[in-house]
Amino acid sequence: MTNRTMMIALAAFAAVIMAAPGCKKGGDNKAAETGKAGSAGDMAKAGSAEGSAKAGSAEGTAKPAGVELEVTHWWTSGGEAAAVAELAKAFNATGNKWVDGAIAGSGDVARPVMISRITGGDPMGATQFNHGRQAEELVQAGVMRDLTDLATKEHWKEIIRPASLLDSCTLNGKIYCVPINIHSQQWLWISNKAFKDAGVAIPTNWNEFVAAAPALEKAGKVPLAQGRQSWQLTLTFQVLLATIAGPDAYRKVFGAKDKAFAAGPEITKVFQAAEQARKMSAKSNVQDWNQATAMVIKGDAGGHIMGDWARGEFQVAGLAAGKDYSCLPGLGVNEVLQTGGDAFYFPKLKDEAKSKAQETLASVMLSKETQVAFNLKKGSLPVRGDIDLNAADECMKKGLAILAKGPSAIIPAPDQLLTADSNTQINDLFAEFFAKPEMTTKDAQKRFVALIASAK
Ligand code: GAL
Repeated sequence: MTNRTMMIALAAFAAVIMAAPGCKKGGDNKAAETGKAGSAGDMAKAGSAEGSAKAGSAEGTAKPAGVELEVTHWWTSGGEAAAVAELAKAFNATGNKWVDGAIAGSGDVARPVMISRITGGDPMGATQFNHGRQAEELVQAGVMRDLTDLATKEHWKEIIRPASLLDSCTLNGKIYCVPINIHSQQWLWISNKAFKDAGVAIPTNWNEFVAAAPALEKAGKVPLAQGRQSWQLTLTFQVLLATIAGPDAYRKVFGAKDKAFAAGPEITKVFQAAEQARKMSAKSNVQDWNQATAMVIKGDAGGHIMGDWARGEFQVAGLAAGKDYSCLPGLGVNEVLQTGGDAFYFPKLKDEAKSKAQETLASVMLSKETQVAFNLKKGSLPVRGDIDLNAADECMKKGLAILAKGPSAIIPAPDQLLTADSNTQINDLFAEFFAKPEMTTKDAQKRFVALIASAK
C-alpha cells in the first residue's frame, strides 16, 4: 500500500467514524461538523459567517437570502484568519453565505479530512488544496467539478499569472480549480529587536545570519526559530537548496529527479547548511509555524525560514516591515521564489443552487477587489497582475520585483513536481534529520538520493 492509498483508506475510515451516531453529518445541505470541530478559536472572525448561516438555516422560519456553502481550509493562524475573512466577506456580499470549515493543524492534518469528506459522500462546497498534484486522484475519480466553461467565459488563461498555476489546475485539458494566490517559501524573517539586543548588525544574507548565531545565543536568543512539523522541516531544507545551491540545482533535483546530481558536492553543501540550521534551532521547541514566527515577533529568536504567509502574522501583531522586522527573499543569497500557493476545488454536488453558488464563489475569488484585499492580508502575491497594489509593504514589493524577473527567478513548488506520496517520504526523512543530532549529513544525503531516485 502506498502512503497515498493508505491516506485515502484512513480517510475513508475517518468518514465512517464521523458518520457514527453522535457525529452530525449533513450531506451537502448543511455544514458538516468536521471542520468546525477543529476550528481554532482565532477563527472567530472568519467563522462569524457560520453564525449568520445558522440563523438562516432550515431550523428557523426565515429563508436564507442566498445559498450556504461550506468552505474547508487550514487557515487558522491570526494572519490567515484575517485573510480568509476577506473571502467570506466577498462571497457574502453576493447574497450567499460562507460557512466556514477551518481545520486546525496545518495542511497535513486537514487534507486527509477533506479527502475523506469528498470520498465518503459528504462533500463541502469548496475546498483549499495547494497548487499542484494534491487533488489529482480526486479529479481522476470524477468527484470534482470541471470549471472549464467558467474559466473560458472569464478569461482565466489571460488573467492568471504565472501560467503554471492554471496548468496545475488542468488535467486532460480541463480546468478543475481556481488559483487564488502565489505563496513562496524562500524567505528569512528577521527580528530587528533580537539583533539589536545582541548588539549585532541586522544580517543581509544567510552567511551573516549564521555568523551572528553565537552573539544571539549569548544574548539568550534562539538563533533560528523552527516549528517541528515535518513539512516545516522539509521547507527549511528545500529553501536552503534553492538558495544556496540555486534555482537550477532545485530544478535538477526536484524537477528532473537527477539522482547523480543529488548525490554530488553542491547538495552536500546544502546538507551542511541544514546541519547548521539544526544546531541553530536546537532550542526551538514549538510545533506550529505561527508559534515559530511569534518567537521572531517577540524578539526571542533571531529569524525564521518560512513562507510569505508569515507576513500576515507580523501585520496582525502590528509590526512594520523594514522597521521592526526584516525579510530576506532567497535568504539574501539567491533571489528566487517558488510560485506555489493555494487553489480552491469544487466537489460535484447534487444541489443545483449550490452548484451555481460554487461558480459565484470561484468568480469572486478571482475578482480584482478580492485579490487585493485577500492577498494583502495573507502575505501572498495576487494571481493577477492587472490590479492596484499601492498598499503593498516593503516585503510584498520585494516579492513582486522578483516575480517580474520572470522564469529564471521562479521555481515550481514541490507539490507541483512530486506526488503527495513522494513528498510525504521526503518529509519523514527531514523530521528524522532535525530530531536526531546524531544523524550525519552523509547518511541523510544518501537517503535523500534514494528518495529522489524513486520519486514520481
Ligand atoms: C500552506 C498554504 C499557505 C499557508 C501555510 C501555513 O500550505 O499554502 O496558505 O496557510 O500552508 O498554514
